[in-house]
Amino acid sequence: MTQTILATGGAGFIGSHVTLELLTAGYKVVVFDNLSNSSPKSIERVARLTNGAPELVVGDIRDQAALDTLFESHDIDAVINMAGVKAVGESVEKPQKYYDINVSGSINLYRAMLRHGVGKVVFSSSATVYGMPEKMPIDESYPIGPLNPYGISKRMNEQILEGMTAANPGWRALLLRYFNPVGAHGSGQIGEDPTGTPDNLFPFIAQVATGRQPGLKVFGNDYPTPDGTAIRDYIHVVDLARGHVRAIDFLLSDAAQDNVAEVINLGTGSGSSVLQVHRAWQDACGFEIPYDMAPRRAGDAPESCANPAKAKDLLGWEAEFDLPRMCADHWKWQSANPQGYEGS
Ligand code: NAD
Ligand code: UD1
Repeated sequence: MTQTILATGGAGFIGSHVTLELLTAGYKVVVFDNLSNSSPKSIERVARLTNGAPELVVGDIRDQAALDTLFESHDIDAVINMAGVKAVGESVEKPQKYYDINVSGSINLYRAMLRHGVGKVVFSSSATVYGMPEKMPIDESYPIGPLNPYGISKRMNEQILEGMTAANPGWRALLLRYFNPVGAHGSGQIGEDPTGTPDNLFPFIAQVATGRQPGLKVFGNDYPTPDGTAIRDYIHVVDLARGHVRAIDFLLSDAAQDNVAEVINLGTGSGSSVLQVHRAWQDACGFEIPYDMAPRRAGDAPESCANPAKAKDLLGWEAEFDLPRMCADHWKWQSANPQGYEGS
């Protein structure tokens, strides 16, 4: 029988790709999203690309009654909790917003799951929980040290789920720590559509390439790295989404154990510097992208790179797409949709 996955935040950047890959793998998907940082067009396009029918329920994870109604009216087998807010700087200015949505909202969701007998859950965590790592690559046993309310909210979710999974019969959780998700679906139909000026490197370069921003500022060229610019483990969002399908397959199989919450890194294991990313973008676009050197950004680590071995061992998953493909697919999306969903 077809199994049904609830995808909170399923209309967003990562969520739309996860929804698409789940439908492609034969799951039914119910998306629960308040559309505060996404467009219903992402779901319409996923439907067209898959000939599938993801159901979109517009609602807020802070609304306990809406969550209870959702579980009463749908037969949910497992949940992927991707809903939330994610801007590090904003989280420092408005910590209450981050704890309210990312923590209280998630607790409402887990409470509704408990009430309705659903105990299988995948959570969108982040490599940001490792703080300012010093030894590369980072495996899941690396010490935790989130540096801001956003990172703390991710760690709190991990801890809440570790406790609930241990205590409740039939509960199983996978806590996925994403490294740097970038790129877009190869069709160019769905992708990241940030509101305002993007903080992250890929969406910022994408806007320079379409002329919405005058030039890239490279934050710091005095890091202890080969070219002096900071290194990250960028991962294609389609690879990341397929990791979620493997996570769900695993949770619903006999291979997974009850009362166990596993932390798993989702990265490629290969790092790229800001200048390497800039060059790969120029190759993808076929023209020059202006850039200047600028001071370091506060709170940035010199390097962040995953050891993704556990994902391979436990889920049989590893990333396939390289940096040129990440840039090519991101550019395909951005050039076809220069103003995002609403402008297209
Ligand atoms: P996104 O903003 O595109 O997606 C989040 C979705 O959640 C949006 O569709 C938004 O409308 C929805 N949402 C926000 N608040 C909500 C609420 N109160 N109720 C219901 N829906 C709500 O972001 P994304 O990049 O797709 O991130 C998805 C998840 O992955 C987030 O939890 C994020 O913290 C986590 N994550 C993202 C990254 C990244 O670099 N993109 C890295 C690590 C972890
Ligand atoms: C940021 C967040 C992190 C979050 C991650 C994924 C901060 C301090 N950290 O990390 O918590 O988990 O996004 O969403 O915000 N860069 C430039 N110029 C730019 C933009 C970025 O040089 O205009 C550099 C950065 O200094 C960094 C690299 O590019 O070295 C990647 O930046 P970004 O995409 O923001 O990701 P992270 O810094 O890894």
